[in-house]
Amino acid sequence: MSEWFETQTGMLDEVWRQLTRGVADAKAPARHPVLATVSADGLPEARTVVLRAAERSAARIEIHTDLNSAKVASLHHQPMAALHVWASKAHLQIRLAARMTIRTGDEVERIWAAIPEASRGNYGVTPAPGTPIADDRAFARAPDRSAFAVLDGQIQWIEALHLGRDLHRRVLYRADAGWSGQWLAP
Ligand SMILES: Cc1cc2nc3c(=O)[nH]c(=O)nc-3n(C[C@H](O)[C@H](O)[C@H](O)COP(=O)(O)O)c2cc1C
Repeated sequence: MSEWFETQTGMLDEVWRQLTRGVADAKAPARHPVLATVSADGLPEARTVVLRAAERSAARIEIHTDLNSAKVASLHHQPMAALHVWASKAHLQIRLAARMTIRTGDEVERIWAAIPEASRGNYGVTPAPGTPIADDRAFARAPDRSAFAVLDGQIQWIEALHLGRDLHRRVLYRADAGWSGQWLAP
């Protein structure tokens, strides 16, 4: 029987297994991917986030953030973002690109309602995240539904890199190719 990393479909199945586990399991590597965006100045920026949803059938990912954070401003300029996961036990790097839609207000009411009270304070920091402050406590956290943003990512492509003992395998899967894979030189 072949190993999952020996076939293109096996690799893609493992990518989605990792992403799905990241949503459900706080200790899974895909729980905390790095989200990269491009600033209005055209500069790269990356930060850790929590993966809140990953749906293979819809090819989408979901991240929650403060509407006033820098990443939201960046996504207004350039909605394409990259997500990165290193699943060390599986020896698997996952890279994907997604077109992010910023959802707020009534559209995200059901998601907001499901967020525990203790976590809602992450959305609604005053002054806005990233603002210089006089000392380490010179800010307030107050749950603010109007500051809650859902970044809804429509995945355009996924790249998987597996570091095998004798062979490194790299595959690109594209949405516009019906998620068929293409081997790449690693
Ligand atoms: C483990 C971890 C998880 C995080 N999860 C999120 C998250 O889900 N959403 C978010 O907006 N920021 C999250 N952050 C904070 C971001 O990394 C970042 O500092 C913040 O969002 C400001 O980024 P920005 O100025 O680029 O918008 C997390 C940070 C860490 C260390």
